[in-house]
Amino acid sequence: MEREKISFQLLIHDLKVPLAVIEAGITSLLGKLDRYGPLTEKQEKVLRRTLRNTRVIQALVNDSLELQRSKEGVVNVTLLRVSDLIEGALVEIFDLVDHQTSEKIRVCADLQQMKGVLHENGVILMIDESLWCRELFLDEAKIKQILRNLLNNALKYRKSKVELRVEERQGCLLFSVKDDGEGIPSTHHKKIFESYFQMDPTGTYSVRGHGLGLAGVMVLVEYMGGELRLESDQGKGAEFMVKLPLKATNP
Ligand SMILES: Nc1ncnc2c1ncn2[C@@H]1O[C@H](COP(=O)(O)OP(=O)(O)OP(=O)(O)O)[C@@H](O)[C@H]1O
Ligand SMILES: [Mg+2]
Repeated sequence: MEREKISFQLLIHDLKVPLAVIEAGITSLLGKLDRYGPLTEKQEKVLRRTLRNTRVIQALVNDSLELQRSKEGVVNVTLLRVSDLIEGALVEIFDLVDHQTSEKIRVCADLQQMKGVLHENGVILMIDESLWCRELFLDEAKIKQILRNLLNNALKYRKSKVELRVEERQGCLLFSVKDDGEGIPSTHHKKIFESYFQMDPTGTYSVRGHGLGLAGVMVLVEYMGGELRLESDQGKGAEFMVKLPLKATNP
């Protein structure tokens, strides 16, 4: 890697520790009331907002490091339960938008319960019980990053509903993230995967993005030897499909 890039990556890397300290501090203030004293409703609201935004920065820092690692060709495959992967990705997403839901997801005992909690939030999870319980060799950080970005977009642009479908077919793991929002006209199907491209840069949505998510997803899918497909048209919602080849053993 070039020298400038390395020092930039180091700078990003060095943000991790102070961010973790900030996160732990706020979490303590919110969670250990007996030790730190009670909070007024307003104080708690401010702290929750601060915590959410700290986690947004943490996610950006981790994503940027993971993306760089991918570009350097680093894959980190471990044996992982599919349920842990999906639950982990969903917790990370809801941590940023809705603390109560992320807590509910964390304590789900089984797939049926998880489907129920998600359904309350307009997210329909479609996966077989057998795949849910399977252990596969996967690159957890990369797949979580892909799912987080696709689901965040779907939640941001949906009218009311998001579908997450997970399947195993012919030695590949397939993810589909579908929403019922305004969709993407075919003239933009290539452009949305370019860095900094946004169809609505003025940001009428409450959470403004950077136009980096899909460009990152594309890089990650490519480096895992997978395929990314988009089916969408104006007014008809959007479906992003990811196909990742599965490894039989740890390389
Ligand atoms: N599910 C979707 N429905 C409609 N438009 C979408 C959808 N997903 C992405 N887009 C369009 O593609 C653009 C690029 O998406 P991308 O995820 O790269 O950036 P972002 O969500 O705007 O910001 P970031 O992900 O960096 O926070 C979006 O700004 C939006 O215009
Ligand atoms: Mg995005």
